Amino acid sequence: MVDFDDLAATWDDDPRRTQRSQEFAKLLAAAVPLRTDMRALEYGAGTGQMALSLLPHVGTIVLADASAGMVEVAASRIAQLDEPRLTATQLDLTTQSAEPQSFDLVYSSLVLHHVDPLPTALNAMFATLKPGGWLAAIDLEQDGGAYHAQHADFHGHDGFAHHQLQDLIEGAGFTDITFRAAGHTTRTAHGDHEEDREFALFLVTARRPA
Ligand SMILES: C[S@@+](CC[C@H](N)C(=O)[O-])C[C@H]1O[C@@H](n2cnc3c(N)ncnc32)[C@H](O)[C@@H]1O
Repeated sequence: MVDFDDLAATWDDDPRRTQRSQEFAKLLAAAVPLRTDMRALEYGAGTGQMALSLLPHVGTIVLADASAGMVEVAASRIAQLDEPRLTATQLDLTTQSAEPQSFDLVYSSLVLHHVDPLPTALNAMFATLKPGGWLAAIDLEQDGGAYHAQHADFHGHDGFAHHQLQDLIEGAGFTDITFRAAGHTTRTAHGDHEEDREFALFLVTARRPA
């Protein structure tokens, strides 16, 4: 497992993450009909960068993450901003549930490939959405393990084939499943020499039937 508690304090030091979060928020806003009265849950919100970019488009966002370190950084950012429309909470939907039928949107960026078992979390996302609510997730195309090559202890998914994730999302009860290209993310490999590599991303959206 990647130790996100350890990474939390310096997560925001890489400006590529800020830029990436801003781009993800734009992609999501273009794909889902957002409204400023929507209650959103960001699953695996990390330090809260994407939520800040998405906030102008929705009503409130709960920033949920399994990592206590990430939640601590997100909570201190919210306190500094004095932003009552954001809250941060520790939550792992593979072992916990969220309030049933209470969100209009559940979204995540670069999180699903870490989640195991993923069907359990997708079922919990479905349950916490109101009927007609939206799921949106940005994640890695299948990468043969290259993205996490430097994490010998990574036991998540090596990206996703669309049909594989589509089956899991459908299995949780979602409909209207749509995949879109979502650009690339860059990762620097530190081997004998430093090398930047690009990894293709997709955005998948789906709905809980009304
Ligand atoms: C690659 S980081 C992405 C963080 C943020 N979404 C971003 O794009 O910068 C993955 C995040 O997912 C969280 N995470 C991993 N497994 C999780 C789980 N089962 N439940 C909730 N959060 C999880 C990690 O703690 C981490 O913050």
